Amino acid sequence: MRHLITTDDLSIDEICAIYDEAERYLSRPPAKVLKDRLIITLFFENSTRTRSSFEIAAKRLGADVVHLDVAKSSTKKGETLYDTAANLNAMGPDAIIVRHAQSGTPYQLSRHVDCAIFNAGDGAHAHPSQALLDLFTIRRHFRGDIEGKTIAIVGDIKNSRVANSNIRLLARFGLNIILVAPPHFLPKTDLPTAMRLEDVLDDVDMIMSLRTQTERHAHPIYASLKDYASDYCITKERVGDRDILLLHPGPVHRNIDIDDAMLADPRCKVLEQVKNGVAVRMAALKHLILANG
Ligand code: NCD
Repeated sequence: MRHLITTDDLSIDEICAIYDEAERYLSRPPAKVLKDRLIITLFFENSTRTRSSFEIAAKRLGADVVHLDVAKSSTKKGETLYDTAANLNAMGPDAIIVRHAQSGTPYQLSRHVDCAIFNAGDGAHAHPSQALLDLFTIRRHFRGDIEGKTIAIVGDIKNSRVANSNIRLLARFGLNIILVAPPHFLPKTDLPTAMRLEDVLDDVDMIMSLRTQTERHAHPIYASLKDYASDYCITKERVGDRDILLLHPGPVHRNIDIDDAMLADPRCKVLEQVKNGVAVRMAALKHLILANG
């Protein structure tokens, strides 16, 4: 049974095939290859983009999509997550798309069900579909010429599953990665790091800005997000006229992560990431669900 728990579940060839398929989805209406398939979305953490993106992707391919409202479900009545999963599994879905605050939950679930598990974000661990759509957006922008290009990942890297998944995936595709953050936001790493944005701006082709993951901080770290912004906000003033591609997984803390001017700048690809996300998720759903038979 194939799952998408981390991007390592896919080979480079498979990822390239998914990207070719996603590219086709951007230009013409898809065949309903998941007709009569059942996909369940199970989100224990808030989501705007990821859940709707997966649901739209599944529906575009003709699948039936059921969202389990966790706030009203039996986990609230004391049922364990595994019993909930076993019950959902008994309804015969082809995939369960799960988001959970605890790292490792999708992997644990994958051992209790016989359908594909898609990890839609688990704690600070992984967010594979986000990294896949980020790399797709980068590849499209550079028309495939990405090997040796340099990206700065900026912000709360230590607590970011988006950063974690991207660090792994982008390195596999030959990108150079620089981590830019204050010491308390840096994970243990062998990658090059910098404390100041100004020290890397002349060396990078791309910036991936991240939201400060306040929900994962045991104690408030910055007195206010404004203090963080004064050092790390991607402003038009800082970037100047440099030819830098700007990414952010959303939700953006406006004028904290990226300022109004850069959000409106054509170098900023936030909405393109969202658009590409549907196509990439369509291709990933199709690839893994059909591979499972
Ligand atoms: C991210 C997430 O939930 O991990 N959002 C997303 O899926 N696009 C990033 C974040 O919440 O900061």
